[in-house]
Amino acid sequence: MSKYLPLLALTSAPLALARTPPGFIPSTSNDLIVEYTGFYPSNGVVVSREITIPQPRIATTTPLNGTSYSILMIDLDIPTNNPPETNTLLHWLQTSLTPSTQSTTFNTTSGSVRGFQLLNTTQTTPVVGYFGPNPPARIPLSHRYVQILVDTSNITEQGEAALREAAATLRGFNAESVLEEAGLEGNVVAGNWYNVTNPGSVVNATATTAGTMTVTPTATGAGTGGIRGSLMGAVVGLGVVMVVI
Ligand SMILES: *[C@@H]1O[C@H](CO)[C@@H](O)[C@H](O)[C@H]1NC(C)=O
Ligand SMILES: *[C@@H]1O[C@H](CO)[C@@H](O)[C@H](O)[C@H]1NC(C)=O
Ligand SMILES: *[C@@H]1O[C@H](CO)[C@@H](O)[C@H](O)[C@H]1NC(C)=O
Ligand SMILES: *[C@@H]1O[C@H](CO)[C@@H](O)[C@H](O)[C@H]1NC(C)=O
Ligand SMILES: *[C@@H]1O[C@H](CO)[C@@H](O)[C@H](O)[C@H]1NC(C)=O
Ligand SMILES: *[C@@H]1O[C@H](CO)[C@@H](O)[C@H](O)[C@H]1NC(C)=O
Repeated sequence: MSKYLPLLALTSAPLALARTPPGFIPSTSNDLIVEYTGFYPSNGVVVSREITIPQPRIATTTPLNGTSYSILMIDLDIPTNNPPETNTLLHWLQTSLTPSTQSTTFNTTSGSVRGFQLLNTTQTTPVVGYFGPNPPARIPLSHRYVQILVDTSNITEQGEAALREAAATLRGFNAESVLEEAGLEGNVVAGNWYNVTNPGSVVNATATTAGTMTVTPTATGAGTGGIRGSLMGAVVGLGVVMVVI
């Protein structure tokens, strides 16, 4: 028997693990709570498309001291006509969010989590309004969706313009270069990601239709799986957090 055991309980401890997908830049080790009416798909878990249709509430696990934050959500795995090559797609860009100083308890299927919500108290129109995941029956069927929270308290007019310009083209959104252009490199304060998988099989690897740019989710498509949140979360922790017993 191995003398090493994974310490599952540590998955919520403040470890220096990235809360963004492996290889994604900018990475962060701070959890961003992304709550979809009772579901908190975190750190790469598989979640059904239906759960992710309505705009989520977002929060940080510790209070923030900046005055203004922006949320970005990006699909890292949209199909191209040259599979298995992929592209990226911006799904959400909301600026001018204000951090709450009081905590909120989110009651979720993975337990209750306490967080400081980011609120749209200024009622700012989003640069890109939230639209949920909808991976089509093309290669790849599984898509990674990353959410990052950026401190935009001191954003300049040029920075704001750079964000808007980059967001005008949803496809090919490169978070690293966009944030750098906007003078926001190093300002990512928290992150999260999850996986939505089309449950069907690939219909046509090179079809140009099939919902990649579908802004309004349709009734068909991905999502019969249901959340496998806590289990998958534990699996993500495996092999990374070990303890000698
Ligand atoms: C705000 O919080 C950040 C991160 O904890 C810290 O580095 C920074 O010094 C704080 N700034 C102020 C003005 O308190
Ligand atoms: C979570 O549940 C607690 C206790 O039932 C309740 O006080 C709290 O308002 C709930 N939180 C949310 C965000 O609904
Ligand atoms: C912020 O307010 C605008 C205008 O009411 C609304 O369109 C947008 O969805 C809100 N964003 C968030 C994150 O609640
Ligand atoms: C924004 O400016 C304030 C005041 O100069 C400073 O304390 C804070 O650290 C800056 N925040 C960021 C993210 O640069
Ligand atoms: C996403 O989940 C599917 C199972 O639904 C799995 O096959 C795939 O490898 C996962 N992708 C990533 C990047 O974790
Ligand atoms: C797949 O879609 C492409 C682009 O729409 C089309 O040219 C091709 O004929 C389709 N292939 C099949 C087998 O239907």
